Amino acid sequence: MKFISPSVAGLVSLLASHAIAAPGGNGDNGHGSHGSSPSSRLDKFVAAEKKIALQGVLNNIGPDGSRVPGAGAGFVVASPSKVDPDYFFSWSRDAALTMLMIVDEFAFSGDKKLQAKIEQYITSQAVLQTVSNPSGTFLPQGLGLGEPKYMVDGKRFNGAWGRPQRDGPALRAITLMTYSKWLMKHGQAKKAKNVIWPIISNDLSYVGQYWNQTGFDLWEEVNGSSFFTVQTSHRALAEGQQLARDLGVKCTGCDQAPQVLCFLEDFWNGNHLVANINTNTARSGLDGNTLVGPITVFDINASCSSPTLQPCHSKTLANFKALIDSFRSAYSINKNIPANSGVAVGRYTEDVYYGGHPWYLLTTASAELLYDAIAQWKTQRFISVDSTSLSFFKDLYPSIKTKIYKSNTKEFTAILAAITTYADSFVAIAQKYTPADGALSEQFNRTSGAPLSATHLTWSYAAFVTMSRRRAGSFPPTWGSSRAASPPKTCSPATSSTQGVYIPALAAGAPNVTVGCQIQVGINLNASTYYGENIYAVGSSDDFGAWDIDNSYPLNPGGYTAERPLWTLSAYLPAGQEISYKFARQQDCGQPWVYESGNRTLTVPPCGGQAVTIEDAWVGPVGTSGGC
Ligand SMILES: *[C@@H]1O[C@H](CO)[C@@H](O)[C@H](O)[C@H]1NC(C)=O
Ligand SMILES: *[C@@H]1O[C@H](CO)[C@@H](O)[C@H](O)[C@H]1NC(C)=O
Ligand SMILES: *[C@@H]1O[C@H](CO)[C@@H](O)[C@H](O)[C@H]1NC(C)=O
Ligand SMILES: *[C@@H]1O[C@H](CO)[C@@H](O)[C@H](O)[C@H]1NC(C)=O
Ligand SMILES: *[C@@H]1O[C@H](CO)[C@@H](O)[C@H](O)[C@H]1NC(C)=O
Ligand SMILES: *[C@@H]1O[C@H](CO)[C@@H](O)[C@H](O)[C@H]1NC(C)=O
Ligand SMILES: *[C@@H]1O[C@H](CO)[C@@H](O)[C@H](O)[C@H]1NC(C)=O
Repeated sequence: MKFISPSVAGLVSLLASHAIAAPGGNGDNGHGSHGSSPSSRLDKFVAAEKKIALQGVLNNIGPDGSRVPGAGAGFVVASPSKVDPDYFFSWSRDAALTMLMIVDEFAFSGDKKLQAKIEQYITSQAVLQTVSNPSGTFLPQGLGLGEPKYMVDGKRFNGAWGRPQRDGPALRAITLMTYSKWLMKHGQAKKAKNVIWPIISNDLSYVGQYWNQTGFDLWEEVNGSSFFTVQTSHRALAEGQQLARDLGVKCTGCDQAPQVLCFLEDFWNGNHLVANINTNTARSGLDGNTLVGPITVFDINASCSSPTLQPCHSKTLANFKALIDSFRSAYSINKNIPANSGVAVGRYTEDVYYGGHPWYLLTTASAELLYDAIAQWKTQRFISVDSTSLSFFKDLYPSIKTKIYKSNTKEFTAILAAITTYADSFVAIAQKYTPADGALSEQFNRTSGAPLSATHLTWSYAAFVTMSRRRAGSFPPTWGSSRAASPPKTCSPATSSTQGVYIPALAAGAPNVTVGCQIQVGINLNASTYYGENIYAVGSSDDFGAWDIDNSYPLNPGGYTAERPLWTLSAYLPAGQEISYKFARQQDCGQPWVYESGNRTLTVPPCGGQAVTIEDAWVGPVGTSGGC
């Protein structure tokens, strides 16, 4: 996460900051020659680390998380780290995946302390849905729901960022639906229907309306169509269809589920999944994106041939092999590890964020995907090896053939044992690079193995907990993938959007925002800038940061050319509002801001008025490259 794409950010170098390497691993690589067996030592590590990880998550949730003072109730903070990098924000994606883990833990343990966190999350998200932000407003078109990132107290974040990101609403819906089903099983269907469904309904409306438009991927770098976003969007809509039926309500947008599933097929290139399409990138497409997707849509009761691309699907397995193999040579800490043993796994081999290193959450996700697949084979009682998945199996079980292995055979048992050993070997890698106190950062150094980047990353901890649950044989109930409608034979882009219905979730605590009257205001600003310089509007309205430069509104350089140095802004602003503002240049290399000399005035047209576009040119001193 958290690397601003040059095309968006106008190029603040985040790479300048190098995290300090912490002390190395605990020296136990799971392959020691004395003491207890490797697998029982791994068991011990997992049991101890799971406790640390769950507490690590709780420490990062407001209002009482010990590492995040200032965070609002129910807000999941990405990391307590405020510099190098600054992750002291709440991301919709990280928060939803983290709370999905908490719901899973709560359903298993019945721990009331966890339930209180879930309830606070629900309230926080009902309010958050209505917060206007640079992605747009909640009313009338739900655009604000695509905002990826908020302040830890739930206020809007105005800085330049890769937005919108369309996975947030899908993931939040999945988390809230999972909890709703628990409530229904425990005699609280009314609450699920009256309090929680209205939040879910807004999110599913968003997914059904916008799934066929581009947005930024889960690593916040690529503007296109992301495999992870499309795969999880399908689950959200298909699950929503069934939950709506069970609750006796209507799901607006869920009718799009078969079209989304149809689109999911486009990500397969014949050899592996391509993480981002409908975009220009020189990357291979092999990306941890395609590990996190299958484990998020995992359904113990799914068929391996389900078009939802479950962990045990042949394409998922072929992709797994191609992706993991790409990291074998990419990182020197993976040198000399044999093909049947797990390695340190990162986002993609072309990654340059912090220098491009393995991530804890992706190394444990690799293990989780395999534990999931094993559970699915056990449930369906056979393994079907075909020409697509053959090479995945061959590394682990050399005598494998393309055929069906039934559960009552020695081979079935032996194949699953080999894959379990393989899964465990990824956990052993995570163990090897986890410091003695169990703290999980975002990354670990590809050369030295030392922890790197954000400390106490909430998602790293949450990913450890879900992996350890799957390893222990504990799986969430089916989400109904086998009842999802099949994709049409040919995808139909003509019918790829359903107008959403957006209503504040009042019963859950949302404010009664009304459409009020907003008018779209566009600004085209001519301003020659150097590579690394950004432009913001700062002014008297909340949208422009109320004169707080740290919360000013970013302009977009997407249309900047050699012929025209164009920076643009498009925002829905309150009708009739008079705004005093100016443009400001953010310099590179930590130099101070450069402001226009005078103040400008903008009067938003009255209610019922037409959208306006203002043509401007920079007036004032220019910036200078710091040459850093
Ligand atoms: C929209 O859907 C069509 C049909 O599946 C697909 O070909 C196209 O690439 C999609 N575009 C985006 C941006 O999702
Ligand atoms: C992302 O891509 C879409 C479609 O190509 C484009 O309209 C939009 O402006 C892009 N967004 C950014 C921030 O570059
Ligand atoms: C599990 O899947 C089978 C078909 O594969 C279906 O008949 C059955 O109803 C499913 N069970 C549940 C609990 O969804
Ligand atoms: C990773 O470790 C190597 C070898 O110790 C070191 O040279 C490099 O600076 C480290 N990278 C980062 C980003 O800390
Ligand atoms: C919400 O606001 C609208 C418009 O002002 C009003 O008609 C409606 O009664 C309000 N709803 C509640 C529950 O206060
Ligand atoms: C612009 O407005 C700000 C905030 O009201 C004020 O502090 C500043 O003096 C104004 N600048 C000029 C040049 O009028
Ligand atoms: C901005 O630049 C374009 C192209 O150079 C020019 O046509 C236009 O008049 C400029 N706008 C302003 C407000 O200066």
